[in-house]
Amino acid sequence: MIIWKNVNKVKPGEKLGEDVYDPSGFIILLKKGSILKEGDIVLLKNRGVNSLPIYEEEIFISSEVEPIIDYENYRTLSEELERAFNEIKEGEINISAMVEQSENILNEVLKKIDKKILNLLNNDSKPLIRHCINVAVISSIIGINLGFDRELLTKLVISSFLHDLSHDKPIRDVINYYDTHPIKSAALIKNYFETNNDILLSVLHHHERYDGKGFPRGLRESSIPIFSRIIAVADAYDTLISKDFPGDALTPYEALKFIIINSGKYFDPQIVSKFVHYVGIYPTGTIVELSDGRKGVVLKVSNGVFPIVKVENREIDIKKEKISIKRILKE
Ligand SMILES: [Fe+2]
Ligand SMILES: [Fe+2]
Repeated sequence: MIIWKNVNKVKPGEKLGEDVYDPSGFIILLKKGSILKEGDIVLLKNRGVNSLPIYEEEIFISSEVEPIIDYENYRTLSEELERAFNEIKEGEINISAMVEQSENILNEVLKKIDKKILNLLNNDSKPLIRHCINVAVISSIIGINLGFDRELLTKLVISSFLHDLSHDKPIRDVINYYDTHPIKSAALIKNYFETNNDILLSVLHHHERYDGKGFPRGLRESSIPIFSRIIAVADAYDTLISKDFPGDALTPYEALKFIIINSGKYFDPQIVSKFVHYVGIYPTGTIVELSDGRKGVVLKVSNGVFPIVKVENREIDIKKEKISIKRILKE
């Protein structure tokens, strides 16, 4: 989406959605896709350019399905979390703001938990913040299904917020990938917490693997902190379906399949089963062809593993209507 902005309101870091010409119309000053620097903006102003075509990524939530966190709340969360990340990187940690935002997420998730929907935001101009919010949402769903009390849930959500703190953007780091970001992220918050604090440890160990082949310490099975085992599943699901990796995004069904196949290898089987129990075999957003030839999108789980599918504005409970899913379609 392109938004025309007054040159005085444009900020460094914004991206041009079209080539920008000199007002004479003959010379291209900056090419489409350029990321604006302070100097570019000065140059454009000096050349008499008044407005600029700025590219803004469209926030996409499948319009068919109710989102688990509504837009307005998502905006607040995103702004607050971005502010908190910047503060931590400057050496301050405002834990009460984190607790407040974790309450915000938990209240939203608890309101929707019985509806069994999992409609996440999967594309945004702030990918890291979006990723941390989504991981917090999925983790809290799993935590609720594991019977966690409010105190544990709050800690789990804060750990999810912070798990990739030292990154600039999310990376698809599920498979055979080694990186120092768990150590760096933990280092950024370590002065605030005791050495054996749950939040600190779960950030540090969120890339351990259930079979002991993860990092940084190669912990295995129950020696991996429980929050880290939950975050590992949430992290994988969100990065696999994310459109931040163009051409590479899996459908919710494929992502869930990956998680199930790797249960016991990368992921704790008990946690995978709680997640599958919530989302069903066909997670929210899966596009399917039904046995009668109609196409639709899965809204939520209805009964056991059977989904409710939205077909042309009608919600179909496939078990009740004795219809089956013929195949999964790619978006
Ligand atoms: Fe990570
Ligand atoms: Fe992550």
